[in-house]
Amino acid sequence: MRIKRFSPKLILTVVATVATTLVVHADDKPTRAKVDASKLPPASDKQGLTYTADIKAIFEKSCTKCHGADKQKAKLRLDSLADILKGGEDGKILEPGHSAESLLVASISCVGDEDDWMPPKNNKAKIPPLTPAQIGLIRAWIDQGAK
Ligand code: HEC
Repeated sequence: MRIKRFSPKLILTVVATVATTLVVHADDKPTRAKVDASKLPPASDKQGLTYTADIKAIFEKSCTKCHGADKQKAKLRLDSLADILKGGEDGKILEPGHSAESLLVASISCVGDEDDWMPPKNNKAKIPPLTPAQIGLIRAWIDQGAK
């Protein structure tokens, strides 16, 4: 039987891979929502999405009553791109390029803990859940860098 020694190059590759994985996951904050990505509505294939042109109106209709100038539930404002990128009391709510791992997407898709669904179930303002098409646009916008 021939015993093959591990080449230094292979060992380096393994070490580098492990190190990268550790670094990538070191910021395991709420942005990294642990959800089953297959349960999320798919991202839209629309290109060139921006907050101002495509996303602002959705948040204004369904979110800013509680996350805007009057009220800042969870210390979160969703009425400007800067505030959205800043996040809320638990930290960032999205990670540009990674919609499936963004807390924002988990919340609006109503997967996971019911207390985290947004807008909240049975809210007094009777704001309905976002549609799969709206969620798909928000996902694509995040995947394209949340510009
Ligand atoms: C009727 C009020 C209301 C509306 C409308 C609403 N939210 Fe919320 N939101 C809350 C409350 C209350 C919390 C805090 C929940 C908690 O701490 O359990 C919250 C928390 C959040 C959080 C977690 C922030 C953090 O740092 O913990 C996110 C993300 C969020 N909302 C997104 C949205 C989005 C996106 C919309 C619109 C689609 C929306 N919300 C609409 C009341 C609302």
